[in-house]
Amino acid sequence: MRLGIIAGSGAAAFLAGGQRLALAKGPWGDISGPVRRVAIAGHEVLLMSRHGEPGSRAIAPHAVNYRANIWAFRELGVDHLLGINTVGGISARAACGSLVLPDQLIDYSWGREHSYSGTAAMPLRHVEFTAPFCARLRALLLEAASRAGIDLRPGGTYGVTQGPRLETAAEIDRMERDGCDLVGMTAMPEAGLARELDLSYAICCVVVNQAAGRAPPGVGIHGEIASNLHAGLAQAERLVRELLSVD
Ligand code: HPA
Repeated sequence: MRLGIIAGSGAAAFLAGGQRLALAKGPWGDISGPVRRVAIAGHEVLLMSRHGEPGSRAIAPHAVNYRANIWAFRELGVDHLLGINTVGGISARAACGSLVLPDQLIDYSWGREHSYSGTAAMPLRHVEFTAPFCARLRALLLEAASRAGIDLRPGGTYGVTQGPRLETAAEIDRMERDGCDLVGMTAMPEAGLARELDLSYAICCVVVNQAAGRAPPGVGIHGEIASNLHAGLAQAERLVRELLSVD
């Protein structure tokens, strides 16, 4: 497995150290930030921060150049791509602080450059997307979680909102009626683009807050995020280490 990781909010924990790779500019414009080569459990892993370099102005979810990012990983020879995504929890399957490995998604985002298909780079292709995440990579992650004693919830539906604002309570109610367990802003178009490039793609979600309208009165979303982010990402990092320790 040649693994790439796209780390989301709080990505600094994943990015410590590593050698920055020099990359020729690709056909889709600027990537979010440098790709770093790091060694994890004796394996070389390529890492990028989806929202840009920690410490610089963050790139909003709707402004991320997903096409350039995914293309860069493919150009670097990555065949498995793991997203680390912080999300809000909607259903009981997505308790605050837990890690969830979704198996489905619903895309509510709009206006994003979301395809290579039908461009000069790629003839029109209607990729199959019945199962948006790679079953094999998901299975490997679940096995790794079980070996390491990490509580990784084995499924769920991720609803992708446009952001950057958070949702209204009614929007979350609608998403719950639609079957969403999680809400986040970045799994699409990332998953679709990875499929177009035949990359095995999955995401590990860190539930950092209860979705809008779900928390008891007085509990603020940003306070919840601050208190769950660090521990959740530490667990995700442990999961990646375990994933690579047997490959
Ligand atoms: N909504 C959308 N995206 C998010 C949330 C949320 O509540 N929490 C973290 N990412």
